[in-house]
Amino acid sequence: MNVLGIESSCDETGVALVQAGADGVPRVRAQALHSQADMHEAYGGVVPELASRDHIRRVLPLTRRVLDDAGATLADVDLVAYTRGPGLAGALLVGAGVAAALGAALQRPTAGIHHLEGHLLSPFLAEDAPPFPFVALLVSGGHTQLMRADGVARYRLLGETVDDAAGEAFDKTAKLLELGYPGGPALARLAAFGDPEAYDLPRPLRHSGDLDFSFAGLKTAVMTRLARLGPNVCEQSRADLAASTQQAIVDVLVAKSLQALQETGLDRLVVAGGVGANMRLREALHAGAARIGARVHHPPPALCTDNGAMIALAAALRWQHGLLPDEPAGAFDVRPRWPLQELSVA
Ligand code: KG4
Ligand code: ZN
Repeated sequence: MNVLGIESSCDETGVALVQAGADGVPRVRAQALHSQADMHEAYGGVVPELASRDHIRRVLPLTRRVLDDAGATLADVDLVAYTRGPGLAGALLVGAGVAAALGAALQRPTAGIHHLEGHLLSPFLAEDAPPFPFVALLVSGGHTQLMRADGVARYRLLGETVDDAAGEAFDKTAKLLELGYPGGPALARLAAFGDPEAYDLPRPLRHSGDLDFSFAGLKTAVMTRLARLGPNVCEQSRADLAASTQQAIVDVLVAKSLQALQETGLDRLVVAGGVGANMRLREALHAGAARIGARVHHPPPALCTDNGAMIALAAALRWQHGLLPDEPAGAFDVRPRWPLQELSVA
């Protein structure tokens, strides 16, 4: 079973061919990715119309490259998976339209996949795949959620951000520090030279008792600090501010993830989404989990941020469990807003 996966929900065009082997273990035969980060950088964030047009330019050449790299042809594709949502409507429509056209031409079924289900299941592409049930911390540019996953399509929301996502907090702080877009990796790089305790920044909802997050106030706190430092802020203060911001975000994510493990009684934590690539977060989660006898699982490093492999994988796992959405040939729709909880089967 070969699944072609197409991801186009935001600013990355990702295509991959994933094989669901007879042994039930899925593996990536080939994958290709084009990031639009350089194109959007001049605007300080993603411009939806430009994103859609670029997906159109990239998706077919990437598909050809993936098939070539895998030594496969379109005739080998058994199922075409695409990101149905959530994301930018115009960008999603590119992947969905191409998938529907390929499906109709090849007379193969299509499967519209939830982007976050892709992230959540992506550690199954790692060597050290986690067994169900587990707690998942989904931390991306648009989402910050703690989920309980009891199986494929059996997810329960435990808590989520009430305002900004963790990735947004990284990106907005990076913008204040004039680090360009996307800000997360740039902020993490600068933070490596700073003191994480230099500035006492707020840890919103840290002790709220529930599993919700709030990151909007952090940006305001950083703005206030920067204003106090004046226009000629030195490089060390900028690095200290970056390190302190990163630490504040990490502290809250770790505290709530450990709380989720303790409340559910589970001992496995899956971390997925772009912010999951943050080394400080990884180290702190591993250390915290070890203290309570739990283990942390990640997708392979290249599959932390958006990619086509996770979309193909989610479709392959759903297929294996008889849980593929029923899609009439040639028809497709997108769901720019799509709560992950709606996917769960009873
Ligand atoms: O999952 P993803 O690629 O796209 C979305 O679905 O949103 O996540 C992108 C987010 C951005 O906010 C980016 O700044 C952040 O992940 N990010 C990081 C790092 N790498 C990516 N944040 C902190 N540290 C990193 N190393
Ligand atoms: Zn994502």
